[in-house]
Amino acid sequence: MKIIVLSGGYSTERNVSFSSGVLVANALIENGHEVMMLDLFLGTQNKDFPPQYRSEPTYSYSFPEKEPDLDDLKKTTGIDSLIEDSVLCLCKKADVVFLALHGSIGENGKLQAILDINNIPYTGSSYIGCLLAMEKDVSKELFKANNILTPSGFALEKGKSEIPTDVHFPCVIKPCSNGSSVGVSIVNCSEEFSAALEKAFSYEDKVLIEQCIVGREISVGILGDKALPIIEIVPKSGFYDYQNKYQKGFADEICPAAIDKELTEHIKNEALKIHKILRLGYYSRIDFIIEANTNKPYCLEANALPGMTPTSLLPQEAAAVGIDYNSLCEYICNNPIK
Ligand SMILES: Nc1ncnc2c1ncn2[C@@H]1O[C@H](COP(=O)(O)OP(=O)(O)O)[C@@H](O)[C@H]1O
Ligand SMILES: [Mg+2]
Repeated sequence: MKIIVLSGGYSTERNVSFSSGVLVANALIENGHEVMMLDLFLGTQNKDFPPQYRSEPTYSYSFPEKEPDLDDLKKTTGIDSLIEDSVLCLCKKADVVFLALHGSIGENGKLQAILDINNIPYTGSSYIGCLLAMEKDVSKELFKANNILTPSGFALEKGKSEIPTDVHFPCVIKPCSNGSSVGVSIVNCSEEFSAALEKAFSYEDKVLIEQCIVGREISVGILGDKALPIIEIVPKSGFYDYQNKYQKGFADEICPAAIDKELTEHIKNEALKIHKILRLGYYSRIDFIIEANTNKPYCLEANALPGMTPTSLLPQEAAAVGIDYNSLCEYICNNPIK
């Protein structure tokens, strides 16, 4: 097949997406496909990923420690459209478009709707699933309506909502629809509150203030109609923030997690239920924390396009049931949204 791996884009997770993209692209080439990596935002103007199909797995990317400066990217390139002009034309000629995008229009349904309208097959979830999973306040309402345990919380809109005075600590403040822990803070006392709120608002006009769940952090990948083994994440310090997610060796990941059989089954069933409620597609990944005091799993969020980077969780979970990275990419490509 001729496959375009769409990555980058105008997103705080732009670099994470390149990291996923090169791995996916090389894997698909090794599987015998012709593959073109393409930057959604810069398109043909991204000199690192020229618009040519390759049949040798030669893509490479070295992951910067810092998040990308998007304002600077816009200024230096002078581009203001979120999809470069040539991208859809190129995608129309491919057999399938593999979405190695994370965050922003690549994961919130907007791009998926445009691909639908243009009759371009793509991987992952439909625009509805992406939208429901991306908007954390909307997912939370759906979790509550379906008796899925989730941290209590509420959304605040910049300049519109009253700043609450009765917040319980510790709490978590996060942008409503970001990813990769960008803009997320754990707030331990009232003195830390304003700075954390300002940080989250610097990424988005809507933020979520949530009860902080203290316990074991786990994640469950869904592939097809099955839940993969649960993975436990143990950061060496702090919580599972951007650095702990993407710098090798900053967190221990244990898969399958040492959780008793009954609770494992319960969490896997909850994850499958969440995948269905949010109308997700062929694959997804659902994040939970098992509260230390009660041993109950609280769902934090669902990811419509989970990471495929060297440190990402879903590939490790697939590997635990004998599905290697290349096979995982192949399955995803063979089950597109059309
Ligand atoms: N309510 C919460 N209680 C405890 N930790 C949280 C909570 N919400 C988020 N976190 C921490 O922040 C990380 C990122 O939050 P998450 O909601 O998964 O957003 P995203 O991964 O999309 O940035 C989580 O992996 C977890 O470490
Ligand atoms: Mg998460």
